[in-house]
Amino acid sequence: MSGREQTPWWRQGVVYQIYIRSFADSDGDGTGDIGGIRSRLDHLVALGVDAIWVNPWYESPLADGGYDVTDYRAIDERFGTLDDVDHLIAEAHDRGIRVVGDIVPNHTSDQHRWFREAVAAEPGDPVRDRYLIRPGRGPHGDQPPNNWLSVFGGPAWTRLHRPDGTPEDWYLHLFTPEQPDLDWDNPEVRAEFLAILRFWFDRGIDGIRIDVAHGLAKHSGLPDLAETEVQQILGHTKLDDHPHWDRDEVLDIFREWRQLTDAYGDRFFVAEAWAPSPERLARYVAGDVLHQAFAFDVVEAPWRAPDLRQAIGSTIDALGRAGTLPTWTLSNHDVVRHTTRYGLPPDTDWRRWLLGGDRSLLDAEAGVRRARAAALLMLALPGSVYLYQGEELGLPEVIDLPLEILDDPVYERSGRTMKGRDGCRVPIPWKSTGSSLGFGSGAPWLPQPAEWAALSVEAQTGDLDSVLELYRSTLALRRELMADDESFEWRSEPDATVLDFERRRVRCLVNMGPASCALPPGGAVVAASGPLVDGELPPDTAVWIT
Ligand code: GLC
Repeated sequence: MSGREQTPWWRQGVVYQIYIRSFADSDGDGTGDIGGIRSRLDHLVALGVDAIWVNPWYESPLADGGYDVTDYRAIDERFGTLDDVDHLIAEAHDRGIRVVGDIVPNHTSDQHRWFREAVAAEPGDPVRDRYLIRPGRGPHGDQPPNNWLSVFGGPAWTRLHRPDGTPEDWYLHLFTPEQPDLDWDNPEVRAEFLAILRFWFDRGIDGIRIDVAHGLAKHSGLPDLAETEVQQILGHTKLDDHPHWDRDEVLDIFREWRQLTDAYGDRFFVAEAWAPSPERLARYVAGDVLHQAFAFDVVEAPWRAPDLRQAIGSTIDALGRAGTLPTWTLSNHDVVRHTTRYGLPPDTDWRRWLLGGDRSLLDAEAGVRRARAAALLMLALPGSVYLYQGEELGLPEVIDLPLEILDDPVYERSGRTMKGRDGCRVPIPWKSTGSSLGFGSGAPWLPQPAEWAALSVEAQTGDLDSVLELYRSTLALRRELMADDESFEWRSEPDATVLDFERRRVRCLVNMGPASCALPPGGAVVAASGPLVDGELPPDTAVWIT
């Protein structure tokens, strides 16, 4: 980076993630849409974010919430039209807000034209080569080609059948059977995605999040995984040499993509790359590869100072060696909301706890206190920050959604052993009254808890003790005190229960221990996640000091 004036905005930008189905519904069908986003831009201006990232809005059967795309250049009619996108981009840009899209390159929908062609074709036809279609094992080919499992549970292979019912080859799907994996060794696949990216950049999209960026390249021999390495449902690899996750070949794909953004000059990519370590994550953001990659180690870390310090510190160090800053996030549409995660004992497997876990383990009040402190912690770190819609309201996970209304394929695919991700996707409460709390005029696609009336944007606005006002004031202060500051230095020891670090103009302390602690003398407290007691920092509380 040569000269501060050339620092791109995203390097320390704050991006607000919009899960489009659940943000705001403008046409009363119970599903959020682009019109809904346009109607709520002023909330984002008041919050003080630099950009929005919108989850997939493409034409899709919604077998996995839109991560199953039939046409990457068309908008699903439930979400609006391309014309709506053009208006959204223009109106967001008028307010100084950038728009980030979401591309799904690992797989298409099984209803995509390419997959239909593949299914209709004979074995050996090149139209099949866009996917990973292979003969089965065993004398009759009735065993899958290898032992890989789907992230959502069950085998990662499904067998194709001729129209007369005769079984034939198998196709790979790391997610649901409705999401066949593309073969990224195929030049046609590579060319098509470059064209899709150009299509969106030409429409004015400022950046693109890359779904399952770590999954595109597969070992060409498609070898079996060792028994000990098989996929856990919704789990992530810790292996450095995995046949389908985080392979070096994905970086070659992204080097090509990088040339595209370099040609546009001001656009960027953010990778959803679940890498086994910060060092391996750093490969995605090294010089000629991508711009950003989420630091998921922080999402996985419990509310325990040494764990969070390790996740934060190792990420800053590894990405610093790659010449860049981290991309922080606490929640997204795939994980239990952090207000709830932090209310559970540190070693709880929150993905599994949702279904039948002991509810008495949850201390909801502690969860809110810690989520408030976590906001001050994350917003004090160098790098960019992604907020997930509703975290600025302190929304908890909805843990009691009835099983019969679950929409996430994870519940069925996991053999009903995992509840899935619907509990973090419940529509946003905008108002304190009305049947959908201001989400829209129809019944929302997932029901909102009645208590959310008190958490609505309307209810919290102007209440200085609310989570919303905490986010608004802290974001404003971050902009004022840290906009260009890339410095970072720990003041606490690795095993301390109070995290303490310094930026150029701000020192941040987060007390994760059981007892209050003294503040360093002389400083002025400019932000606090909760009240100080006798001038001391109580447990589960964070402050910024100047
Ligand atoms: C990513 C998305 C998730 C989706 C999966 C398959 O992890 O964030 O929601 O289910 O990819 O596309």
